[in-house]
Amino acid sequence: MGSLATETSTSTDLPASVSRSDADILKYGILEIDLVSKNPMELFKAWYTEAQEVPENTYPQALTLATIRKDGGPSARTVLLRGLDQDGFKMYWDHRSRKTDEIKNDARGALVFCWTYKDETGTAGGRQVRIEGILEPLTEDDNTDYFNSEPLLAKIRATACHQSRVVTDNRKSMLEHINSLWHKATSGQQELTKPDYWGGYRLVPQMIEFYQGQRDTINDRIRFRKTSETVDEPGVSMGEDGWVYEKLEP
Ligand SMILES: Cc1cc2nc3c(=O)[nH]c(=O)nc-3n(C[C@H](O)[C@H](O)[C@H](O)COP(=O)(O)O)c2cc1C
Repeated sequence: MGSLATETSTSTDLPASVSRSDADILKYGILEIDLVSKNPMELFKAWYTEAQEVPENTYPQALTLATIRKDGGPSARTVLLRGLDQDGFKMYWDHRSRKTDEIKNDARGALVFCWTYKDETGTAGGRQVRIEGILEPLTEDDNTDYFNSEPLLAKIRATACHQSRVVTDNRKSMLEHINSLWHKATSGQQELTKPDYWGGYRLVPQMIEFYQGQRDTINDRIRFRKTSETVDEPGVSMGEDGWVYEKLEP
C-alpha cells in the first residue's frame, strides 16, 4: 500500500512520481494495470480484505453513513458494515431511529470508509473509499437471519432500547427493561426474537471513489460511475458490469 505524508517534505527534489510517468516508476497507486477488477465492488472487496489485515485498523468495518435531514441539511453518523454482496453494502439498526426517518423521506445516502496503516518505512498512510447511492430496506428474512446471529446483549439492547429517543428518566426504565430481559433470556423463560422495528438497509452504489494516499502527497483517486449509456468523454474508460471510471486530480 502507498502512504499519505504526515509532514510536509522540506526536500527541493521533485518527487519521482512527478518527474516520471506513472508507467516508468515503481509506485504504489491505483494504476490501471494494478486494478484487480474494473468492477468497483471487486476492488472494494480487495481493499476491505487488506484493511482487515492491518493492526492499525481496529474497526475496518466502521464507516460514516450520511443521510439527508428532512430540512435538506446533512446528517452523518458511524455504523458498521455487516454484509457485502454484488448489490451493495448492508447495515442494521432500529427503524424508529433518526436515520430511518431521514431515509424514508429521502433514500439517497453516502458512505465513507477511512483506513490507515504504516508503510514499510513506518510512515503513516491512508486509504479512503467514498460511496454514493440509494438506500433500500433489506428483506425480513435477511433481518431475522442477522438478528439471530447477534450476541445476546446486542439482542437485548435492540429489544429494550428505542434508538434516538430522548431519555426522560435518567435511563431508569430502559435499564430495568434490559435487566428483566437478561434474567428471562438466561433462565430460558423468554426467547429473544427480532422486534418488528429492527432491520437493515443496503446502500446500492451509483458512485464509488477510491483514494490512495502517497508519501509524496501526489495522491491517487479513481472514480467509478454506474451508467447505462456508452460514455465517450475525455479521460473516461469503460469498466465492467455497467461501470465507467476516471482518474481525478488529488
Ligand atoms: C464504531 C461505531 C459503530 C457503530 N455501529 C452502529 C451500527 O452498526 N448500528 C447502529 O444503529 N448504530 C451504530 N453506532 C451508533 C451510531 O453512530 C448512532 O449513534 C446511532 O445509530 C443513532 O443514529 P441516528 O440518531 O442518526 O439514527 C455505532 C457507533 C460507533 C462509534
